[in-house]
Amino acid sequence: MGTETVVMGLDTMPRSGLSPLDLSPTVPTNPGRLVTFEGIDGAGKTTQLEQAVDWLKASGILGDRPLVVTREPGGTALGQQIRHLLLSGDWEVADRTELLLYAADRAQHVAQVLQPALAAGALVVSDRFVDSTVAYQGFGRQQDLILIETLNRIATAGLTSDLTLWFDASIDCCLARRAARRGPADRLERSAIEFHERVRSGFAALAAQDPDRVVRIAADGDLAATFAQTQAVLTERLARWWPVPVQTAF
Ligand SMILES: Nc1ncnc2c1ncn2[C@@H]1O[C@H](COP(=O)(O)OP(=O)(O)OP(=O)(O)O)[C@@H](O)[C@H]1O
Ligand SMILES: [Mg+2]
Repeated sequence: MGTETVVMGLDTMPRSGLSPLDLSPTVPTNPGRLVTFEGIDGAGKTTQLEQAVDWLKASGILGDRPLVVTREPGGTALGQQIRHLLLSGDWEVADRTELLLYAADRAQHVAQVLQPALAAGALVVSDRFVDSTVAYQGFGRQQDLILIETLNRIATAGLTSDLTLWFDASIDCCLARRAARRGPADRLERSAIEFHERVRSGFAALAAQDPDRVVRIAADGDLAATFAQTQAVLTERLARWWPVPVQTAF
């Protein structure tokens, strides 16, 4: 028997605690469910989320179940400071710094908002979550996907969405919507078209990899056509997660 050669890499380095590539989920089985709204800038995530929340409240479909509405970045008081650091444009943010700031925002969001709400049985809806990091930092900025996966596992402690609605609209459509809203685009500038094409392909890859969790919603159409799809997917999932007990006649 020869001596085993150990290559010291990211996955084999001895360290106290867990290997970053083998962070088995530590998340408990929650009675609640997490639905995230994803897509490129201007695809209609926030509009659809607000409409979905109005419908969920008005229809009574959740019964007594609490509904928690949140977002990333900025779902906590600490996270709002991080959101400002990331999005104000007041600082030049290096790619890895951006990745770490999103991870810090997420760790706080999971600990302070998502996990307690899910443990209490809530339906939680979040405007963006983990898939945005994979799509933007991984596919868009072309950072190492293993590094991103590792950071996401650290930040979430293994928590994943139960359903992700991916609002998929063409870049041209998103540009036109944003221009209509507030004049020529800011973050989504024409020079960033290639970047957003890569981000869009990232969401497509996530949907292909995990089709039951990530559901594509065609979001090029008008609000009503888009919302009809949102409502149909949510209705089906809610019935699957929390079936209404069959009423007996006696
Ligand atoms: N299906 C739609 N048809 C027409 N206009 C839409 C549709 N969905 C959204 N809009 C409009 O497009 C603009 C962008 O929508 P919204 O803010 O919901 O996108 P978003 O994905 O949340 O963007 P961001 O990533 O910047 O937060 C808004 O002015 C909204 O009213
Ligand atoms: Mg939005």
